[in-house]
Amino acid sequence: MSGDLKWNKIFGAALGTAFVILVVQQASGLIYHSEPPEKMGYFVDAPDEAAGAEEAELPPDWGTVLPAADLAAGEAAFARCQACHNAAQGGADGIGPNLFGVVGGPVMHRAGFAYSDAMTKHKAEAPTWGYDELNSFITAPARYVPGTKMSFAGIRDTQTRINLIAWLRNQGSGGFAVPAPDPARQPGAAAPAEGEAPAAEGAPATEATGEAPAVGAAPTTQQTPAAPPAATSAAPPNS
Ligand code: HEC
Repeated sequence: MSGDLKWNKIFGAALGTAFVILVVQQASGLIYHSEPPEKMGYFVDAPDEAAGAEEAELPPDWGTVLPAADLAAGEAAFARCQACHNAAQGGADGIGPNLFGVVGGPVMHRAGFAYSDAMTKHKAEAPTWGYDELNSFITAPARYVPGTKMSFAGIRDTQTRINLIAWLRNQGSGGFAVPAPDPARQPGAAAPAEGEAPAAEGAPATEATGEAPAVGAAPTTQQTPAAPPAATSAAPPNS
């Protein structure tokens, strides 16, 4: 008899639990029910700290990041390339080709350098060292150009690559235009919420003037706070 009672209790408890789960499911369904987004997958644009994989990372918005790049840091980062490259005008090839003017230039830009077959193959697919291409190559050379004879692991830090590419552009590639900033990727741009299209107004319309500004020559956009932040707790007067 007591055995029956025990099973009754267990069964009752299980039923009760199932009931509670059902009720919570229904209730949350009512509370959180929302329309499906008009444009699926818009959160690709949202900054996602969890997306650590480089494959998932959007390429930088060059029009925004290049004028803000730290050229001194870029030059310092070039120390990692200098065992094999120099970027001086008229500089000789070393283990790697001279890199003066490589930004925006053709892949295999040095006629006299013995490039690998892998690089020859790559040139057929992507003939120009644009910003995205350089960025991908410097991130992981052997992954972007499998079989390249540039034996360099790559620079994983995005800001370091941005600084380096900005500095490298100034070594003979000043004529290679920086694209206009993407208004949708400005810090102030509204994230597309509730199915609304991202607001484009308020973003500066940067028309290509045909004349490429030198990187680093853009006016600095330092925001000076109007007033120092108020102290959170007023110190009691000395007694
Ligand atoms: C260990 C030597 C070595 C290091 C270090 C190195 N490179 Fe290279 N790099 C090479 C070689 C060799 C090639 C030619 C690759 C090929 O033919 O496959 C090359 C090719 C390149 C090219 C393509 C040039 C062209 O004419 O198409 C670029 C751009 C480049 N390197 C940039 C860099 C940058 C930037 C760094 C530093 C972050 C760097 N490399 C570090 C050896 C090196």
